[in-house]
Amino acid sequence: MTTQLIINQQPHEVDAAPDTPLLWVLRDHLQLTGTKYGCGMAQCGACTVHLNGTPVRACVTPLQAVAGQAITTIEGLDSAAGKAVQQAWEELNVVQCGYCQSGQIMSAAALLSSNPTPSDSDIDSAMNGNICRCATYVRIRRGIHQAAKNLASEASGKETSDKGTVV
Ligand code: FES
Ligand code: FES
Repeated sequence: MTTQLIINQQPHEVDAAPDTPLLWVLRDHLQLTGTKYGCGMAQCGACTVHLNGTPVRACVTPLQAVAGQAITTIEGLDSAAGKAVQQAWEELNVVQCGYCQSGQIMSAAALLSSNPTPSDSDIDSAMNGNICRCATYVRIRRGIHQAAKNLASEASGKETSDKGTVV
């Protein structure tokens, strides 16, 4: 059966059974391998993608549930919050082996999109379902605070430059 998908703002047509997990559609049908397989049962967060801006676990999300909706993967994460997180991850060298990190970044970006100044407890609660076997949790938390600063400075820079163009 053919299903129409919108992934990273691009239309795709996938021929797969309606109950195929989105994770396998992304990885095997569309070669979007940035989204990782960890547990396959919504326990680790490695497969996190955004569905209409909300983080979901692609390993337990059937293809039929996402037809025609906006899916964002790590390959297409170019929102202001997503860029701020990726910049902070580089600045603070958050990554160790890297396996969990696309899921971590997707969850962190979704958090900052809804809460641009999260507290430690906001971060712990939003990131609770993302497991890191290398235990980079302290750097992840620091990275999210740094990303919040990056986001604020990007917004204030934009405001300044917008004001600068007013005549
Ligand atoms: S692979 Fe989906 S949550 Fe672990
Ligand atoms: S960086 Fe290795 S599992 Fe998280």
